[in-house]
Amino acid sequence: MTKTINIAIDGPSGSGKSTLAKMLAASLGYVYIDTGALYRTVGLFAMQNGISAETPEDVVPLLDKLDLQMRLEDGGNAVYLNGAKVGAEIRTSEASVYASQVSKVPAVRAFLLDTQRSIAKQNNVIMDGRDIGTVILPDAQVKIYMSASPEQRAKRRLAELVAKGEDITFEQVLADIKWRDENDANRDIAPAKPAEDAVFLDNSDLTLDGLLQAALEIVSNAIGATA
Ligand code: DC
Repeated sequence: MTKTINIAIDGPSGSGKSTLAKMLAASLGYVYIDTGALYRTVGLFAMQNGISAETPEDVVPLLDKLDLQMRLEDGGNAVYLNGAKVGAEIRTSEASVYASQVSKVPAVRAFLLDTQRSIAKQNNVIMDGRDIGTVILPDAQVKIYMSASPEQRAKRRLAELVAKGEDITFEQVLADIKWRDENDANRDIAPAKPAEDAVFLDNSDLTLDGLLQAALEIVSNAIGATA
C-alpha cells in the first residue's frame, strides 16, 4: 500500500482548527478527522453512566462496555457510541468539561490511540486535536499549530453556542476557554503543546480565505501539494 499523506493540526479550543481542517480537506480531497469528537464521546459515555466530572478515572472500568467507532461518511467522520451516532449532545458546555477531564486519563488516551492511527494509515487525512503532531502522528508530513487570542476564541465559541440555543454569556465562555487551556496544557499525559517541527499559524486576525491560503502555503512548502 502506498504511504498516505497525513496533515496534523493542533491547537487550543476555539482556535479555528476544525474550520481550517474542513476547508483544507475539501480543497485537497482528503478526509477530515476530528479527534476531539472521540474524547467528547467518551465524556458523554461517562456522563451517561453517572460518573462525576471531578473523578474522570472512574470511567476506566467501564471502557470494556464502550464500543466506540469512527466511520467515514460523506468525506467526514461520524462517531458511534454503542451503535448510535452521536450528534450535538457532545458539543454542550457540560460535555466540553467532561471531554477535557476524561482526556487527562491515560487509559482513555490509550483506548483511542489505535482508532486514530489506523484511520490515518488508510486514508490521506487532515486530523485535528491536541497531540496529533506530538503523539498520534509524529511522522505526519505536515504539522500546523494554530493559535488565537482567548478573547477571539471566546467570541467564536459564544456565537456557536448561542446558535445552538445555549443560554451563556461571553464572560462564562471566556472563563471556560481559559479553564480548558489550563487543564489541557498542564496534564501529565500528552499535554496540548506544539510539536518541535510544527509550523505556527496565528488565526487571531485572518479571514477564512486568508486562513486557507496561509495553510495551503504551509502544505505546499512541506509536500508540494496544492489544490
Ligand atoms: O477539540 P475539542 O475542543 O473538541 O476537544 C475536546 C477535548 O478533548 C479538549 O478539551 C481536549 C481533548 N482532546 C485531547 O486531549 N486530545 C485530542 N487529540 C483532541 C481533544
